[in-house]
Amino acid sequence: MSPRSDHRVRPGFPPTAAGEAAPGPLGQAGDDRLAFWARQAERLHWGTGWTRVLDWSDAPVARWFVGGRLNVAYNCVDRHVEAGHGDQVAFHWEGEPGDTRTITYADLRREVCKAANALLSLGLRAGDRVAIQLPMIPEAVFAMLACARLGLPHSVVFGGFSPAALQSRIEDAEARLLITSDGQYRRGRAEPMKANTDEATRNTPGVEHVLVVRRTGIDVPWTDGRDLWWHELVDAQPDQHTPEDFDAEHPLFILYTSGTTGRPKGILHTSGGYLTQAAYTHGTVFNLDPDADVYWCTADIGWITGHSYIVYGPLANRTTSVMYEGTPHTPHEGRHFEIIEKYGVTIYYTAPTVIRTFMKWGEDIPARYDLSSIGVLGSVGEPINPEAWRWYRKHIGGDRVPVLDTWWQTETGTIMIAPLPGGPAAKPGSAQAPLPGISAKIVDDQGRQVGKGESGYLVLDQPWPSMLRGVWGDDDRYRETYWSRFAAQGHYFAGDGARYDEDGDIWLLGRVDDVMNVSGHRISTAEVESALVSHPAVAEAAVVGASDATTGQAIVAFVILRGGTARPAGDVTDVLREHVAKEIGPIAKPRQIMVVPELPKTRSGKIMRRLLRDVAENREVGDVTTLADASVMQFINAGPADGS
Ligand code: PRX
Repeated sequence: MSPRSDHRVRPGFPPTAAGEAAPGPLGQAGDDRLAFWARQAERLHWGTGWTRVLDWSDAPVARWFVGGRLNVAYNCVDRHVEAGHGDQVAFHWEGEPGDTRTITYADLRREVCKAANALLSLGLRAGDRVAIQLPMIPEAVFAMLACARLGLPHSVVFGGFSPAALQSRIEDAEARLLITSDGQYRRGRAEPMKANTDEATRNTPGVEHVLVVRRTGIDVPWTDGRDLWWHELVDAQPDQHTPEDFDAEHPLFILYTSGTTGRPKGILHTSGGYLTQAAYTHGTVFNLDPDADVYWCTADIGWITGHSYIVYGPLANRTTSVMYEGTPHTPHEGRHFEIIEKYGVTIYYTAPTVIRTFMKWGEDIPARYDLSSIGVLGSVGEPINPEAWRWYRKHIGGDRVPVLDTWWQTETGTIMIAPLPGGPAAKPGSAQAPLPGISAKIVDDQGRQVGKGESGYLVLDQPWPSMLRGVWGDDDRYRETYWSRFAAQGHYFAGDGARYDEDGDIWLLGRVDDVMNVSGHRISTAEVESALVSHPAVAEAAVVGASDATTGQAIVAFVILRGGTARPAGDVTDVLREHVAKEIGPIAKPRQIMVVPELPKTRSGKIMRRLLRDVAENREVGDVTTLADASVMQFINAGPADGS
């Protein structure tokens, strides 16, 4: 591996004192910043060059690389083959049952071309939306890139989401095609997927076809005329296709994420700016050497990390990656380490919840494997506690490699705040500083930057190329959610709390809104509450995120049951936990449900979650003076009325 150089160009602290122009309304990127991003865009192949780096005149909707045209799939695949790298491995794929596939860049081009020709044969045209719910199999990447090649925005839905969640995402995006599989392997078992997607598409007449990858061989329900097998349709297609360039702002994908209401938001990302920053951050943060590194990001393609750091960033950079289908403990708890040893993984990028799970399993497990190939470790998804950071560095990184905590969001598209390898001394648990080209601040309630040692809200005060371009079909929600909180200053409100330390480095403190982070998955309290109250037995529900040693936060629900006949048979809390799993997906299942006679509310009727969090975390209950009826906490603290 090449020596990891020091790219660090740290913005001064505070940023405005370091000679950077104070932003005007909605921020104005300075000339240096634009020149910086213009240089980064040269990482890509543009069919037509841009005439302007940024048009921010319609803020907060940005247009980056104005007038530029490119094809994202060409940039991720074809150009590498044309440059003589067709034999380089793009993916070492490991199936959960132990089957493997090696996919070179030349293979990838053939597969993507065939898939693109198949989508064309179905009558899909640029701008049409395609929903994808697939396990972590190579066809997931082929499908995404085929969509990108044709200018079809994809909406990938995590394989663990319920039919109801898939249905609402298909409806919101008005997808014409769904790509799925017969089943998926989960902890050694083949579980149905098509049967679930059929439940979702029963009510989505806009879906004209369902393209089905055969992964497990299990029986599937079938609708003639609508359903098509991938191996029949795609494999019969020519393996050549000439890509067309699209505008830099052509929509690349929609990805749904939880907000503070019950309805997930379709975060919209476009092509040129997104791919520029995906390639830049992936190349720079991990100091990637495409000729030497073997990179593995353990995320699922159903999340933004999978989009940006399994598919778009790594492929734009001609990376050799590992892709793994299954869970970390199938068939045994050393599976990840076995894979690292087998392929000589040099860069490993995972989530704190995975690290804490490894900690729980014990350090003797990684110790059985040769992990000496590792050169860089990354973390994403939630604040990494210093203990997990140190364990990660010691037991996976041999106490010798950089551990990079990377902060970003579905909305930011790519990494925004992270230390760089070779930068100043790493601080366990701190994402430290915005990357070169990025500007972030911590501000108080009034939007004023706080000082060293102080905490506040994290904001992004300058536009960035991979920023979301909106919420699909809901411009007002875009402005309201992200830009209204600090409208006077023109800051993007990230929804996270953060603190400057005495050196001016940034420490992330978690969400400041009603969004929970469970194993790095964003789930809103409102979403779980509405799932709970959709059950006939529930009159009212309040949900909080309580600290959890493994998952970061865990979902704890307080419910008031309806009287009379609505009560389900059996243990009511089990029934309700299953109900939430069915409505949203197993990731949203509450750890604990407490049946209570009342909920603590203010005089204006707002539920005081702070007090419920105290109960959920077994703490003394805090100040109750703003409650309409202070005595309710006695009932809640006295324990469940029944059923839990
Ligand atoms: O609260 C922050 C947390 O995850 C949120 C974004 O979630 P999502 O859109 O699902 O994207 C996850 C993968 C990028 C953020 O608002 N978060 C993510 N990374 C970190 C983090 N919190 C602290 N430190 C991180 N490194």
